[in-house]
Parts: sequence; C-alpha cells; structure tokens
Amino acid sequence: MQQHKLSFKVVDRACVTRRVVGDWEVRLRGAGFDLVLPKDGPDAPMPREDFLGKVAGCAGVLSMLTDRWDAEAFEAAGPGLRIVANYAVGYNNVDLAEANRRGVIVTNTPDVLTEATADTAWALVMMASRRLGEAERHLRAGRFHGWGPNDWIGVDLRGRTLGIIGAGRIGEATARRARAWNMRIVYSHQNPKPDFEAATGGSRVPLDQLLSESDFVSLHVPFTAKTRHLIGARELTLMKPTAILVNTARGPIVDEAALVVALRERRLYAAGLDVYEDEPRLAPGLVELENVVLLPHVGSGTPEAREGMARVATDNLLAVLAGKPPINPVTP
Ligand code: GLV
Ligand code: GLV
Repeated sequence: MQQHKLSFKVVDRACVTRRVVGDWEVRLRGAGFDLVLPKDGPDAPMPREDFLGKVAGCAGVLSMLTDRWDAEAFEAAGPGLRIVANYAVGYNNVDLAEANRRGVIVTNTPDVLTEATADTAWALVMMASRRLGEAERHLRAGRFHGWGPNDWIGVDLRGRTLGIIGAGRIGEATARRARAWNMRIVYSHQNPKPDFEAATGGSRVPLDQLLSESDFVSLHVPFTAKTRHLIGARELTLMKPTAILVNTARGPIVDEAALVVALRERRLYAAGLDVYEDEPRLAPGLVELENVVLLPHVGSGTPEAREGMARVATDNLLAVLAGKPPINPVTP
C-alpha cells in the first residue's frame, strides 16, 4: 500500500496578469511556483473582478501598468503578498504608501525600455513637425493628386531648442538624439544633473523659462501627485505658438482639456501624444484636431524592450520570493 507523504513545503503562488513576451513562464515554473495566469482568450487587460480573484493568496504578482494596486487590490491579495513586480518603468498604478504600510515590495523595469521610448519621443517630434499623420490621412483618403510646392510645409529641426522636462534616463536618451540636428538643449529637473549635461551639452533652467524658450518640449517626469497637470493652461500659454509638445511619459502630466483648447486656437503649433489622462479614453475634441499626433501608448514597443521588461520583472519576482533584496525597488 502506498504511503501518503505529507509535504510541509509551502509552495508560493505567483500571478502574472497578462501573457507577455519572453521566457518568464519557464523561469517561474522552474522555480516551482504555483502559477496563476490569465484565462485563455483574446489578449486584453485582466478585468478588475478577475484580477482581484487571481491575486488572492499570491506571494508575488507580475503586474501590468493597467492593473490598479489600491487598498482594495492589496486587501484582495492578502497578507502573504511580498512583491508587486510592475511590468513598466512607471509605477503610478501602484499606491506606494499602501504597499509600504503592508510591507509589500514594489519594483519596476528601468533601463531596458529607455532607448525605445526615446525613439518614440522622436517619432512624435518628426511626425508633428512635418505634419506626417495629417499627410498620411490625406493620402489614405484618396486626396493625394501629386506633389505641390506649397503642400505639407512643416517646421525645421536643425538648430532649434529642445526642452527636456525630467532629465532621467529617458530624458537623457531623448536629448542625446538631438545632437544629430545640432539642437540647443535646456532641461528642467529638481536638482542639477552633471551626467546629463556632460552627455547632452544641456543646461538647467527653470520650468517657465524652458517653456518660453523651447521649440520642442518633451516630457520625461514620472507621474506623481506633484507632476499632475505640470503642463496646464498657464504653462501652455508660456509656450511659443510655433512650439511642439511631446508626451511619452504619462497622460495626467498634461491637462488634456487645456491642450485641446491651445491646439484648437493654434496657440501651439502641434503636439505628439503617446499617453493620455484616462487611457484609453481621449479628451473630447482631441481626435478632431489635425495638429496633434495620437499614438496608442506604443513607447516601449520593441522586442528588445518588451523582452527586457519581462526579464527584469521576473528577476525581481524571483529575487524577492527567494528572500533576496529586490533589484529594482521603487522608493516612495
Ligand atoms: C510604459 O508606459 C512604462 O512605464 O513602462
Ligand atoms: C522634391 O520631391 C524634390 O525632389 O525636391
């Protein structure tokens, strides 16, 4: 007769809230976790009810930026939760005070998506400055009847001033690319950044000065209570009517309703957005405007960046659940 052996080893439960690219599943299964995955079906954010059910009893969650970690979510996960490994560099979807209070470690995925996101910022600069979205819509609508000397005149990049708001990794990578156009760089950051200055030749100026002097303004600050509507009606008024605003950071950093008004009244030449205040909803009036380029949050969309994000999130999850310190902790 076979003996029933009772195993007292507690198997940690880990949840991955969306099937991302990379070898995370092999690695997490290899580490012996009881893995909770989204149900099969179309690739979509996990519905809230589903999410609250799946995270219950988990020690670690590899989570998307579309998952909201508020008190309700932490409560649903329960006291065994040790880490939320956010699959993003931004972590505004996580209530850090709540995580801290419950002793849950939160990690993000810096570095791996820096270059891809800086490229996206430049794609927006190029598209907005040369009216490429508008031009493509014109062609696709069957209205291209041949080249014209007065058609599709945009703005030049060479020698212009680029204002970088937030001189972190992505801000610096964006500024480095401006060398190709011999641009003057100004930046705003809470403290001086000698490394940024050495890499880009940029100089630090107060935010209002940056806004009034820049031909292109690119946002690279994290979204926090302090950066909400950092660019509002007043700030948009400070910008040149020939200037272009680009946002690849987080939507709520810009007052989207105020931006719609400024663009409609041509108090700004154009804007390029990859992120929105209330994704996937857009502010009323935004899609009707020709002088704005609208991308559906594509910033980190390269194989290298997305696989890197999976690798880094998995590394953090494995480290913390093995009792080691997190590699990329997010400090409140
Ligand atoms: C994407 O938006 C990220 O924060 O990684
Ligand atoms: C434009 O198409 C040119 O050849 O100048």
